[in-house]
Amino acid sequence: MPSADEPFALIIFGASGDLTRRKLMPALWSLYAARTLPEPFAIVATARTEMSGEEFRRRMRETVGEFARLQPPSEGVWERFAAALRYVPGDPADAGLYARLARTLETLERARAGPPNRLFYCATPPSLYDDIIAHLGASGLAAPRPGGVTRIVVEKPFGRDDASARALDRQLAATFHEEQVYRIDHYLGKETVQNILVFRFANGIFEPVWNRNHVAEVQITVAESLGVETRGAYYEEAGALRDMMQNHLLQLLCLIAMEPPVSFDAGPVRDEKNKVMHALRPIDAARVEEVALRGQYGPGFAEARPVVGYRDEKGVAPGSRTETYAALRLLVDNWRWAGVPFYLRTGKRLAKRASEIAIRFHRTPHMIFRRSPGGVEANSLVIRIQPDEGIALTVAAKTPGPDLRLGPVRLDFRYGEVFGGEPPEAYERLLLDAIHGDPTLYARADWVEKAWQLLQPVLDAWSEAPGAPLCAYEAGSWGPAEADRFIARDGGSWRKP
Ligand code: BG6
Repeated sequence: MPSADEPFALIIFGASGDLTRRKLMPALWSLYAARTLPEPFAIVATARTEMSGEEFRRRMRETVGEFARLQPPSEGVWERFAAALRYVPGDPADAGLYARLARTLETLERARAGPPNRLFYCATPPSLYDDIIAHLGASGLAAPRPGGVTRIVVEKPFGRDDASARALDRQLAATFHEEQVYRIDHYLGKETVQNILVFRFANGIFEPVWNRNHVAEVQITVAESLGVETRGAYYEEAGALRDMMQNHLLQLLCLIAMEPPVSFDAGPVRDEKNKVMHALRPIDAARVEEVALRGQYGPGFAEARPVVGYRDEKGVAPGSRTETYAALRLLVDNWRWAGVPFYLRTGKRLAKRASEIAIRFHRTPHMIFRRSPGGVEANSLVIRIQPDEGIALTVAAKTPGPDLRLGPVRLDFRYGEVFGGEPPEAYERLLLDAIHGDPTLYARADWVEKAWQLLQPVLDAWSEAPGAPLCAYEAGSWGPAEADRFIARDGGSWRKP
């Protein structure tokens, strides 16, 4: 494992793409600016676009100005970072590119002391993964250099169903050892998501109530106000279930439902998450409608501006049946959670951007304040993932006055208020972990396969049954009206974040 002061080279495929521009380069810069990036380092970027190294560095300077958490304090500091950026144009399907990359890396490594650690990053559309992995294998680049380590980070989606995920795993396994492979799910790098485990396992007071005896239901919401923006063509093939549910929301569920791992290390943490996946009740192909619901946004408003419906977005088919909203009702069949419903929902063009996990506890077994009008809300614990990161516990309190009236109050911890400043971006943490060789916050192959297996009956029902319902909702709303009925069947209702 390279230590903090060991050199490394990061090789980015897909260097002219959105991910590099919005996430990877800003994160790398912010790590450098915060003095957490191991040195010396080199970033070798490649894409099909022909441009000079100078032009690439100029574009990256712009990108950092627009998207990075930290800004260059002076152009001199930026120049020092930029001196480590190389651009090697080429087609990922062409063997010649890999020969050029190998020469570039060897030259860089010869020019400095220290082990030849290399980290390849697939930030391209997944259709190129095949070529990249095959050529990395054939060119010898996949094999660690003497004295160094070689790793590969693969971006989601990892396949588009159970079969293609297995095929990708087989291909990776033919070229890399599993410990070289890092499957990124950026939700796991979010500060508040990491804090779920700290909150649960570094405090003694929550674990005793973290089970079916005290918890009535769990709701996991990842709501976005954005539409599909410029990614219509990608999204048409994906939909909310593949884009968000199969990865981000199921990962959140695992962090909430898992047993305490023996330590915060990759093996124990990922083993416990896998046990949750094994405990999730399989979805009966004949009863998908009882546990899954999908919707698609029509025209409406986003931040008071009129916006078009999904079918009028660029790159989207006029008669598209791709879901932009998905809700699931899942059960974790084990001692801790038997009978507790986990409701998951995610959607684009919803009323606001809000991701949270809400845990609703049982009511008190007997209410002694019978004369208090209106009754009392059950206690709830809400972990706000973004924005306004924090944790709130709702409890009942006596409202001031001569009558014995009760009302809910929130004990609210806000990250911004307590710690100040902006939390680091998920990609900062995850890039650093991959550089240091810590896969704890990365998805493991068996987890990914299990997630696809769980959702396969829903994918099949939604793609194969032409009449499978697709509920319309207005952009800027909280999703289809049917989603309210979906949860009301159990007597519940969605929380308004
Ligand atoms: C990505 C999805 O994985 O996550 C996008 O592909 C989605 O469709 C994004 O917008 C949401 O991430 P965040 O960090 O903005 O919540």
